[in-house]
Amino acid sequence: MIILGIETSCDETAISVIESKNGTDITVLADKTLSQIELHKQYGGVFPTMAKREHAKNLLPLLKTVLNEAGFLKLKVKSVKLKVEEDLPTYNLKLATILEREPELLEQFLEYVPTIKKPPLDAIAVTEGPGLEPCLWTGINLAKALSLVWDIPIVPVNHMEGHIFSSLLRRKEISNSKFLTSNEIPNSKTQISNELPKSYQLSAISYPSLALLISGGHTELVLIKGLHDYEIIGQTRDDAVGEAFDKVARLLGLPYPGGPEISRLAEELRSGNDEVREDREVKLPRPMIYSKDFDFSFSGIKTSVLYLLKRLEQKETGLSEKVGVESALSPRLQKEIALEFENAVTEVLVAKTKRALEQYGAGALLLGGGVIANTHIRREFEKLAKEQGVTLHVPDKNLTTDNALMIAVTGLMHSSAGKNKDATGLRARGNLRLDNTHSGKEYFL
Ligand code: KG4
Ligand code: ZN
Repeated sequence: MIILGIETSCDETAISVIESKNGTDITVLADKTLSQIELHKQYGGVFPTMAKREHAKNLLPLLKTVLNEAGFLKLKVKSVKLKVEEDLPTYNLKLATILEREPELLEQFLEYVPTIKKPPLDAIAVTEGPGLEPCLWTGINLAKALSLVWDIPIVPVNHMEGHIFSSLLRRKEISNSKFLTSNEIPNSKTQISNELPKSYQLSAISYPSLALLISGGHTELVLIKGLHDYEIIGQTRDDAVGEAFDKVARLLGLPYPGGPEISRLAEELRSGNDEVREDREVKLPRPMIYSKDFDFSFSGIKTSVLYLLKRLEQKETGLSEKVGVESALSPRLQKEIALEFENAVTEVLVAKTKRALEQYGAGALLLGGGVIANTHIRREFEKLAKEQGVTLHVPDKNLTTDNALMIAVTGLMHSSAGKNKDATGLRARGNLRLDNTHSGKEYFL
């Protein structure tokens, strides 16, 4: 099967094409991610309407690059033909209706898609949720428009299940590739990406297994009971882990996204180049670490950082009135807070995961989401897995952030789930849950 994956749930616009003959060996024909971080950095967070506009602007150029890279534009296949029973105005009207809210995308779509040959795709996998709804809609609408023009089914994908599968992708080395390399692709417009054709093998896991998904929007402990069979046993009651990293970073005067910044500072101190003071006054709570459930809460740590900064400031300046919190913050103190914060978050995550592994007798631990890029967190989970004798599955670093490869792979895993000819129910679902009996059925327009 050949699957096109589309991901637009937050601030990454991503499209990929994968091929798999057996459902476990996966060849990446193309995989591009366009990050909007630079744009959102100046505002300190992601603005949904702005993110949506960026997706709408960039999806078509990205699609062109991906189809080109996958080698589809050179294939000798038939040009796209309109369905015989439909005349051009009806057809264009349908497209205009689908892309009604994306005029810029519609214009680019009409200029480009009818002029190229129909690619040999079996399905279009698209993120239906969870995420920012305006952003999700852009990807879904593109998928619907392509599905209409190419007469190819859509497989809706849960973004969180995408993160689960991303941790199961093991990189394989391939030699004598018959695929193009980036140097052979003229006019490549995207900022980041892959460059060499990649091949992955999807690792098998035993059931039950456990997944910890930590990103800017989610913190979930998921019991994997079988293929596509999930139960969320724990989640955050307030801020997501990544969100807490970003907010604390902001308090410390660090740029967005704050996770990597905090991680860098903490690691500097941990690596011993800077001697850690024994009598550190920097002490933060480990919220809910002893609670009997598997839920998390991170907003309290953030508030503690805020109070700590205020206290330190008053102590150092001797002033009681409020001044900018960053003023009393020496680089040294900034590092100490970063370290203590990272330690606090990690200890809570590890403690809860450990208890869940024991309670459910899970055979494997899967980690996913942007925060998994954190070196300390990865290290601590490696220790935990060893201690508990469970197999640890961690995504490749390039697959921790949102990407379309994981969406295509998840679509592949679902594509045999059955046909569903009614696409009317296909819509953006901002709060879609993993245990919400996600059908994964194929939709035809
Ligand atoms: O999964 P992701 O790319 O996007 C979603 O939120 O869905 O995750 C982004 C989050 C941000 O909050 C970012 O600060 C955090 O992941 N992050 C990190 C690190 N790298 C990214 N947090 C801690 N340490 C890191 N090294
Ligand atoms: Zn994500």
